[in-house]
Amino acid sequence: MWGDAATEYAHYCQYITGLIRQYTKRPATTLLNIGCGGGKNVLNLKHEFKLTGLDLSPTMLAQAKELNPECTFVHGDMRTFRLNNTFEAVLMDDAISHMNCRADIVAAFHTAYAHLNPGGVLVATPDVTIETFQQNKTTTTLATRDSLEVVFIENVYDPDLTDEQYETIIVYLIREHGRLRIETEQWTMGIFSLDTWRHVLRETGFQVHEELYNLGEDEYTVFACVK
Ligand SMILES: C[S@@+](CC[C@H](N)C(=O)[O-])C[C@H]1O[C@@H](n2cnc3c(N)ncnc32)[C@H](O)[C@@H]1O
Repeated sequence: MWGDAATEYAHYCQYITGLIRQYTKRPATTLLNIGCGGGKNVLNLKHEFKLTGLDLSPTMLAQAKELNPECTFVHGDMRTFRLNNTFEAVLMDDAISHMNCRADIVAAFHTAYAHLNPGGVLVATPDVTIETFQQNKTTTTLATRDSLEVVFIENVYDPDLTDEQYETIIVYLIREHGRLRIETEQWTMGIFSLDTWRHVLRETGFQVHEELYNLGEDEYTVFACVK
């Protein structure tokens, strides 16, 4: 587990556990993490809930499984997958930014709704909204493990402020035993106004509550949505 990120995930997961307990209308023991990535949220939530993680990337799922061998992981696309079971809570956070058009975000929320028991809670946290987006914001994070040091440089840029997409560019400076390798990734992400989020969540059928989560200087709107 990367040192620096661990504390942030733990703090956030403690916060969303509190939100689920606050809004749920039924005892919450099971949680589906949609877009679980490498499983860091799963790691921090599995002591509170029986966890299932879902992701589109087999590589990320393999990492999540390695970190959390006792949990269940499923391969699927959040726009379309349907499991045979339902859960008392669902978490969708940074992965939802990959929904880069209105139809995709609508589909992803319908997926979440279909997998919740009545009275259960979806926690959805947009990374950015039109209201919070900062053009050319660049963040740098250092993570170390054994003889590996990785500097993540993440830049966000919106070439057209009138549409619902922006770009995320990540540069990885990877030093293994001091030897440098550079890798890059570029994504087209979705960005929507808070009103669009509210509208789409209500249209899906949720009763929507809004909270604010503070992390350092950044403030995130968190939607706690009851089915
Ligand atoms: C930044 S990672 C999530 C990290 C995660 N929050 C954690 O706790 O480690 C974003 C993930 O979204 C996944 N993703 C992107 N599009 C998806 C889709 N359509 N369905 C499911 N997962 C998707 C990616 O494969 C990636 O693993």
